[in-house]
Amino acid sequence: MLMPFIDLQSQRARLKSDIDRAIARVLEHGQFILGPEVSRLEADLAAFGEARHVLSCANGTEAIVLPLMAWGIGPGDAVFCPSFSFAATAEVVPWLGAAPVFVDVLEETYNLDPAHLERAIAEVKAKGELTPRVIIAVDLFGQPADYPKIAEIARREGLKLIADSAQGFGCTLHGRHPLSWADVATTSFFPAKPLGAYGDGGAVLTDDSELHAVLLSLRNHGAGGDKYDNVRIGMNSRLDTIQAAILIEKLKAFPDEIERRNAVAARYGELLAGYVRTPAVIAGGVSTWAQYTVEADDRDGLMASLREDGIPTAAYYPKPIHRQSAYRRYPVGGNGLPVTDAKAGRVVSLPMHADLDEARQDLVVAAVRRFVERRAAA
Ligand SMILES: Cc1ncc(COP(=O)(O)O)c(C=O)c1O
Repeated sequence: MLMPFIDLQSQRARLKSDIDRAIARVLEHGQFILGPEVSRLEADLAAFGEARHVLSCANGTEAIVLPLMAWGIGPGDAVFCPSFSFAATAEVVPWLGAAPVFVDVLEETYNLDPAHLERAIAEVKAKGELTPRVIIAVDLFGQPADYPKIAEIARREGLKLIADSAQGFGCTLHGRHPLSWADVATTSFFPAKPLGAYGDGGAVLTDDSELHAVLLSLRNHGAGGDKYDNVRIGMNSRLDTIQAAILIEKLKAFPDEIERRNAVAARYGELLAGYVRTPAVIAGGVSTWAQYTVEADDRDGLMASLREDGIPTAAYYPKPIHRQSAYRRYPVGGNGLPVTDAKAGRVVSLPMHADLDEARQDLVVAAVRRFVERRAAA
């Protein structure tokens, strides 16, 4: 039997009575769509994330497309994003007929490389086929991107900036949330995310009141003031009330869970140093540790060996987006993405969650060390 990679059952045991009561309340009042818990959650998320407005929505993918729709992104537009991410980051761009332009990531943090971003923007401008419009930075594995530098580039170039914080919601840089640099921050409540629901969900955070009003309309079929006169082409991207009720309870526990995740990460860092490459966090950054990702020369061998020892792992991401069949036709900045390509063959994520106790963590550490020592002796 494998130990859990992300232990939702232990979290459930901790929060069970509060969550069960919250679900029962929704079943009683019966407002399953846009019930009172939805706006309560939005207010709680706004307070937690230091945002003026929060729009909850159906998932973290649509959380990214909604602001792109609100800004009128479409054919002929370029949206710059990392290729070393989950496909959803780029996927939404072609939905609107625009083109993702893939940018490399930094060696240390796996997040968008500002120098490469500048180069990719200059190239697109020089070519003249696409108009630069938006940058999507990703808080990969839970840690904030280099927002001061990226926001400065966005400002100089007149581009919008989205913080795709699906993995990093709750992360900070110099004590500030990504939204303090970005036009919007988005997140996902996919169950395995640091703040996860018991189904799909997402949210868009913004300080821009006009944008928020458009997002509200887009989330609800482009509704205007009159129920029967939709004023724009929208979609149905509402968060279920039951998921909102669950998330209200989970959000209460979240600050403590972020601390516990950081304690787990710090301990991994101490115990695995010298055996595999352990992750570095940007100076001044606090990660939510959606993943604890290390690098090893024989990644696939390490994964197989850990599996034999009952330890699950995952490779995020073995095939960067720009190498995937559906995305090969889109532009890539510079002379390719060497850091992204190199990382894809080396990264492996270890069990990480707020309930990972020292005994189980010791099993993971011992198994990694055994593999590395065996390989060194061979
Ligand atoms: C970086 C990133 N962006 C976007 C998403 C999309 O979120 P969802 O699965 O809720 O649509 C994910 C989640 O898997 C993600 O990891």
